[in-house]
Amino acid sequence: MARERRECGAPRARRLLALLLPLLLLLTCRVRCAAAGDKPSNIVLILADDQDVHLGGMTPMKKTKTLIGDAGATFVNAFTVTPLCCPSRSSVLTGRYPHNHEVRNNSLTGNCSSAAWRAGPEAAAFPVLLSKQKYQTFFAGKYLNQYGKKDAGDVGHVPPGWDQWHALVGNSQYYNYTLSVNGKEEKHGDSYEADYLTDLLMNRSLHFLEDRSPQHPFFLMISPPAPHSPWTAAPQYQKQFSDVKAPRDGSFNKAGKDKHWLLRQPVSPMPDSSLNFLDSAYRKRWQTLLSLDDLVEALVQKLESIKELDNTYIFYTSDNGYHTGQFSLPIDKRQLYEFDIRVPLLVRGPGIKPNQTLQAPVLNIDLASTVLDISGFNLSMVNVDGQSFLPQMAPSLRNGTARPFFLVEYTGEGHPTTDPSCPKLGPGLSQCFPDCVCEDAYNNTYACVRTLDGQHDLQYCEFADSESFVEVYNLTSDPHQLENIVKKVDPAVLQAMNQRLIKLQSCQGDSCRDVQ
Ligand SMILES: *[C@@H]1O[C@H](CO)[C@@H](O)[C@H](O)[C@H]1NC(C)=O
Ligand SMILES: *[C@@H]1O[C@H](CO)[C@@H](O)[C@H](O)[C@H]1NC(C)=O
Ligand SMILES: *[C@@H]1O[C@H](CO)[C@@H](O)[C@H](O)[C@H]1NC(C)=O
Ligand SMILES: *[C@@H]1O[C@H](CO)[C@@H](O)[C@H](O)[C@H]1NC(C)=O
Ligand SMILES: *[C@@H]1O[C@H](CO)[C@@H](O)[C@H](O)[C@H]1NC(C)=O
Repeated sequence: MARERRECGAPRARRLLALLLPLLLLLTCRVRCAAAGDKPSNIVLILADDQDVHLGGMTPMKKTKTLIGDAGATFVNAFTVTPLCCPSRSSVLTGRYPHNHEVRNNSLTGNCSSAAWRAGPEAAAFPVLLSKQKYQTFFAGKYLNQYGKKDAGDVGHVPPGWDQWHALVGNSQYYNYTLSVNGKEEKHGDSYEADYLTDLLMNRSLHFLEDRSPQHPFFLMISPPAPHSPWTAAPQYQKQFSDVKAPRDGSFNKAGKDKHWLLRQPVSPMPDSSLNFLDSAYRKRWQTLLSLDDLVEALVQKLESIKELDNTYIFYTSDNGYHTGQFSLPIDKRQLYEFDIRVPLLVRGPGIKPNQTLQAPVLNIDLASTVLDISGFNLSMVNVDGQSFLPQMAPSLRNGTARPFFLVEYTGEGHPTTDPSCPKLGPGLSQCFPDCVCEDAYNNTYACVRTLDGQHDLQYCEFADSESFVEVYNLTSDPHQLENIVKKVDPAVLQAMNQRLIKLQSCQGDSCRDVQ
């Protein structure tokens, strides 16, 4: 079902415009163009759902690595400031830490797509500012987990700043979903040709590019369901990777004995039922990514055929990482460890030399500033906690240094009642599957400060649980976080990290970037 919409006027009018355009440009942009060179660059942001980088999540995406990474920069120290979909996506959109946008979890009561979010942070999010910069803006895919639901403004709510809006109602799915298409409900079934969501997002993005008006730059944000559950691959990819298993190295199937309460609870080693479950999930995740790899290829080809590729920045990243068996946790995200907080980040575009591997730490809250920087927006006018990483990837265009310290903060999710299929566990937990191992709890609430400055790679975390638990890792000597060194560290060093954490937990804007 679902016909593709053609938005921007009849083809004849477009051709006429294309003929007149050079003349129009000459007449309208004398001053600005003389000062700033050509039209501002176009920007594409692809935000995958739950794609890790630590456990080989990019391995199946060969075309993406060639077309974006090899053609530009690969950031090997890219992090989310909070490893859960809705809070992380809210950070991407606002450029702010969770303590400032106040989206705490995936529920409406935790501000995911809530009235307070819509009235406050969403109305000031970076797409609104890009739109003021005369960008044509297009969104397709998963937005926020509660988006489009009755209590979250329904499908009629189209956030400000977007000219074209094709957003998924609720959480990631591949079939049988509802979209808000510019505020109108559009229901989809389960025909591969008509409905497979990753392909549909690709098709709509290509149509938008064909129909764009060439006098303004464009911004596309494409937010595919892959590789999130329910891991439904396209039919042609369902037999791929049949002998692939989750990697068995690092912290795989290790007991988290010296870690906080939630990590001491899993059965370790895991039973075969858990191992089979997580291996199957790992394989299916890779299968779903093959369609996303096709999307990236089609998009790059289209940009080339419309002669915009050389003037377009393409960002590829994910909202959070993922784990499959690390510390005997079967599958999920939400933990403070590398597998959940590290994300892929590849960028190509004007001024970015090809084949660069960049070490500077970059956060998901930096995307908003970077995109606005590219658009020519005066960054001193925006209220964000992040900073532009254009200087890191294109030093010929901007000067600037990376920050040495940053915050990762997370508010645990739970259920007030005991899971009936796991009666022994008691209340306050969530995500208790398979084999009644819980991946989250109200008291899995933590804040960490990371030091990453080329010499030190340290992580210091405090839990808001009844034990006031502290975990400290030296990632230079212990990259898999096998040993919590809190009892070995000089107390003066611990105190300095605690002070830094306190500052970061209440930082806003400049004070988030300038922590010493
Ligand atoms: C990047 O490096 C690869 C492998 O070394 C090479 O094949 C490719 O041509 C390089 N790409 C660019 C754009 O320089
Ligand atoms: C939700 O956001 C509003 C302001 O945007 C804030 O007052 C409220 O405390 C937040 N709720 C939670 C649970 O953090
Ligand atoms: C989609 O919904 C139909 C009708 O409820 C159901 O028969 C079908 O199995 C669903 N397809 C998928 C892929 O979930
Ligand atoms: C996407 O477009 C291709 C080529 O036109 C078509 O074969 C495919 O069925 C479309 N898929 C979806 C889900 O719209
Ligand atoms: C989300 O956060 C709100 C506000 O703190 C809380 O009331 C609610 O229980 C949380 N939801 C879950 C599933 O933990």
